[in-house]
Amino acid sequence: MLDAGVGTGRNFPFYPDDCTVTGIDISPAMLDRARRRKDKLGTVVELREMNVTAMDVADDSFDSIVSTFLFCVLEPELQRPALEELRRVCRPDGTIYILEYAISENPLRRFIMNLWAPWVRLAYGAAFDRHTEQYLEAAGLNLVKKKYLYKDIIKLLLVRPKAL
Ligand SMILES: C[S@@+](CC[C@H](N)C(=O)[O-])C[C@H]1O[C@@H](n2cnc3c(N)ncnc32)[C@H](O)[C@@H]1O
Repeated sequence: MLDAGVGTGRNFPFYPDDCTVTGIDISPAMLDRARRRKDKLGTVVELREMNVTAMDVADDSFDSIVSTFLFCVLEPELQRPALEELRRVCRPDGTIYILEYAISENPLRRFIMNLWAPWVRLAYGAAFDRHTEQYLEAAGLNLVKKKYLYKDIIKLLLVRPKAL
């Protein structure tokens, strides 16, 4: 399994026991924190510094890929290249799970999110409205399922490579 944009390793407690996991991140500082968490929790994971848009990984390497709150920090022009790379390293029968923010359709929630947005952008370089789904088709991926996990603010996209 690949954890793309592993960050400080907040997903470590949720990795299945029977999985070989690689975590990649572009930030050495985040990887240092992930290594400390790995040592503390005893998580079996290989951590590598890499850009998700150009990974030093062979084609079809992973049968599952998770990416949690990575696409919200990728600028619009990086959405498709990042998805194309995930597709390249995913086995043809593999699954990609993308957990992301969505800008709410509820007027009050939307208003509050829009108030927060500049601070979130400044503090984390993140945005709530990346609309990652719109790049899937061009990246050679099929959206199999979209499910909101919290209100209409946090969504899970279940994605598979299109057949060649
Ligand atoms: C908001 S954090 C999410 C971290 C973790 N997945 C989580 O859910 O806690 C986004 C992470 O993506 C990483 N990142 C940003 N751009 C990246 C890129 N081009 N390639 C790989 N990682 C990247 C950041 O360094 C950061 O650790």
